[in-house]
Amino acid sequence: MNDVKETMSDLNDRNDLVGRVVELDVGAIAHGGHCVARLDGQVVFVRHTLPGERVLARITEGEPGRSFLRADAVEILTAAPGRVTPPCRYAGLCGGCDFQHVALVEQRLLKAEVVREQFSRLARVDLADLGLGPVVEPVPGDRDGLGWRTRVEFAVDPDTGAAGLRRHRSHEVVPIARCLIASPGVTDAAVTSRSWPTAESVDVTETSHGEVVVTVLPAQAGRRRRIVEEVRGVGDFALDARGFWQVHPGAAATFVAVVLELLDPQPGERALDLYAGVGLFAVALADRVGPLGQVIAVESDREATAYARENLVEHRQALVLDGRVDDLFGVPRRVKGRQSRRGPRTRGPARSPLLPERADLVVLDPPRTGAGAGVVRAVSDLRPRAVAYVACDPAALARDTATFLESGYALAGLRCFDAFPMTHHLECIALFVRD
Ligand SMILES: C[S@@+](CC[C@H](N)C(=O)[O-])C[C@H]1O[C@@H](n2cnc3c(N)ncnc32)[C@H](O)[C@@H]1O
Repeated sequence: MNDVKETMSDLNDRNDLVGRVVELDVGAIAHGGHCVARLDGQVVFVRHTLPGERVLARITEGEPGRSFLRADAVEILTAAPGRVTPPCRYAGLCGGCDFQHVALVEQRLLKAEVVREQFSRLARVDLADLGLGPVVEPVPGDRDGLGWRTRVEFAVDPDTGAAGLRRHRSHEVVPIARCLIASPGVTDAAVTSRSWPTAESVDVTETSHGEVVVTVLPAQAGRRRRIVEEVRGVGDFALDARGFWQVHPGAAATFVAVVLELLDPQPGERALDLYAGVGLFAVALADRVGPLGQVIAVESDREATAYARENLVEHRQALVLDGRVDDLFGVPRRVKGRQSRRGPRTRGPARSPLLPERADLVVLDPPRTGAGAGVVRAVSDLRPRAVAYVACDPAALARDTATFLESGYALAGLRCFDAFPMTHHLECIALFVRD
């Protein structure tokens, strides 16, 4: 392999960097599952490596002079102690699991390092100084990081009809016999052993009650498939088989328990559940604030709000609002595709009269992009005594933390969970209290 490796100066002479194999000393882990290396000063994000390794890596993206390159390790010259043989034979081929080559304990240390670095860089917060770790905990019940994924959308190769998983940053479908992180029910559905000549993808969901639902797309896209998920200690939740639900079977109950522990809701309090889905946190909050309290859930997906109303039917103190959180708070947002000479056009709807001026507690559980500065300021203006922020992207959480700190809130708690073992993803739950 050594005879094919080249230096940056060789490569700069040509524009055909992609495909070349270079020797790299691998540095720190970065957000996104790759580590940072340098090739003649240029940053290279290199996958399937560990900090401290020396590797041969193939450049997969980038040109000389661009701010960074991407690469995949093809041979490990010096391995780090945390490296293991991936349990899955598709590791490195399928784009799903990027941490299969890392021991489970080490995966959690890497994720903790990413959280530490993101808070330090984007929020200027030293988590260790605050006594907040970070420590990434396993989701209770997870033993080996395999067999947990209760929802898998298998992609279908349009030429062969074979179901598989997509290669990293590509539309190419890698046919697979078995996905090792899929839950037993998803595996038993045996989607990958059949041919799907007219499908684009096949979605499989296994519920906590053991029901398995297979949805063939696009043929069954509009079809409603009502399922019920049980959350230990909270109750049953109705939702659509393709609607949002935590994919790790232990996650929903764990996150509810942590949010309740952090917020400690009291009878008679008013709580907001923003980005509420089918009302997971709203139901738990309603139980705690009781009939003299109030819960307002906000969710933009109309199908989810219909289920949220059903799930909250016994809680007359709960109100479910259809709509975007930013719109209901009157936070201006960019209008897609519109740009004037003075910059992007924004939409500034009036604040909804259905939202109160004050709240005691807020749960924020936004999508990957985070709540954003406008929503965080609007939430702070409610002057809640405590906010629990459930985040699947530590970078978005760190950015929104900076806004909370500017808005008179302090970061008072942080729990991090390995809700997606074998991948670089994790879930964090932060507590903000009025400073
Ligand atoms: C991470 S999920 C959380 C759902 C719920 N809290 C749960 O744990 O099951 C985020 C939810 O936010 C909704 N959503 C996305 N953007 C939104 C917005 N701008 N305003 C309101 N809801 C939004 C999505 O439809 C999705 O249900």
